[in-house]
Formats: sequence, structure tokens, C-alpha cells
Amino acid sequence: MKPFLFVTDLDHTFVGNDKALVELSQQLIQHRQQYGTKIVYATGRSPLLYQELQVEQNLLTPDALVLSVGTEIYLDGGDTPDPGWSEILSSGWDRELVLSITQQYPELELQPNSEQRPFKVSFFLEQTVALNVLPQLETELQKYKLNIKLIYSSGIDLDIVPHTSDKGQAMLFLRQKWKYAAERTVVCGDSGNDIALFAAGNERGIIVGNARPELLQWHNEYPADYRYLAQDVCAGGILEGLKYFGFLE
Ligand code: GLC
Ligand code: MG
Repeated sequence: MKPFLFVTDLDHTFVGNDKALVELSQQLIQHRQQYGTKIVYATGRSPLLYQELQVEQNLLTPDALVLSVGTEIYLDGGDTPDPGWSEILSSGWDRELVLSITQQYPELELQPNSEQRPFKVSFFLEQTVALNVLPQLETELQKYKLNIKLIYSSGIDLDIVPHTSDKGQAMLFLRQKWKYAAERTVVCGDSGNDIALFAAGNERGIIVGNARPELLQWHNEYPADYRYLAQDVCAGGILEGLKYFGFLE
């Protein structure tokens, strides 16, 4: 067996199927020890909400953490985001301007303070109105030539982040840093903010069996033979995919 780079979303992907998570964690820890495989969590959660989940689920310690939908990368267990990455994101990013424009939209409800981050402004937006509001908001923001991107997930979460950022860009940053080929990299996810992981390039992809409609719809529009749609849910689906691609026996 050879090392691989394992990148996974947490909520409803790595976490959500306790029995399978125990087995997957054991296999990953062993693979890391034996072959030097690297483990990365890529989540929309802030450091605070990640810590909560880490304790609650006793998550294994990853080699790197991608938090706040790719806008923060933490290496070697440190608690300062990688400055090189922050530097890339800061060009053309104007948080205050984003906030003042979005204030004109009563449908946008700010998420809790912990989820407002230096390079991420997040709202709750109901699915029923999102279809109308998102294009309007996008056009409005474009008028100001803001270097940004809207990421809508799970029929409720709207993240506004720098154009240069998402989970996929953060994954590429790590993959290049650690020199893993796309063929030796596997990404796993279930919802809208994971599309960037699957769309980044030809990394192997595992879509868990409980994936949200927005991800399935994207997958149907852009099918690829390096992407596997699992039957089983969460960690069970990941195990299935890792065997399918030959990363695990
Ligand atoms: C997590 C974050 C939230 C974000 C969502 C989708 O739930 O806490 O801020 O909007 O992921 O990326
Ligand atoms: Mg998820």
C-alpha cells in the first residue's frame, strides 16, 4: 500500500455514522503510521464549533485543518491560520463592504458571531427565497467589483468568501505543499460547500450516500469516472469509496 492524501468534510460526511467512524478512524490511523498517509478535515465550521465537535466525537487529530469553508488553514496543530494562505485571500477582500451591501436584504439572517470570520461572512437564508435572492445579491455585489464568491449549502447556509477561497482551493494548497498527485488524493463530502472539493481537478471523489440534492444535482451535471457515489451513509460510504479506489484493502 502507498500513502494518500485524505481530505474529508465533517458534518454528515466523516461524522454521522458512529460505528463506521470508529472503523474508518482505526484504518486511517494505521495507514498514517505505516505509510505516512495524511489526514485533513475540511469543514465550514469555525475554530470554536470545530473544537466542540472534536470533543463530542473524539475525532482523531488531523495533519491539517481547513476551517471556515476553506478560508483558514491550520497546520501542525497550531492555532494561528497559515499566514501564506491568509495573504492570498486578503487581496481585494473587503469584509465591511460585503456587510453593508448585504444589510439591504432582510431575507439574510446573520449566523452567530463565532461563524463570522476574517475571510467569511455567513448568513441563514431559507431555501424557498434563496432562488430569488441569490442572483440579485450576486449582481449587486458584482457592481462593486468585489472579489468574492457565494457558497450556498444544505438549503440554509450562505457563505460569502474571497474569490480565491473555498475548500477545493485550500485542498490544492495542501496537496501542492505536500506533493501529492491528484491520483493519490481523495476528497469526501455531502453538501454544497463540498462541490469545490470535487470540482478542483481530477482528485478522487467520494460522495456519501446521504448527500444533499445540491451536490447530487451538480454531480449529475458534471459526472466523472474519478468520482464515486457511495451507497452507505457518512463514514460507511467513505470506507466503501476508499476500497473502490484501492486506497484501502
Ligand atoms: C458550518 C458553519 C457555517 C457555514 C456552514 C456551511 O455549519 O458553521 O458558518 O455556513 O458550515 O459552509
Ligand atoms: Mg457536510
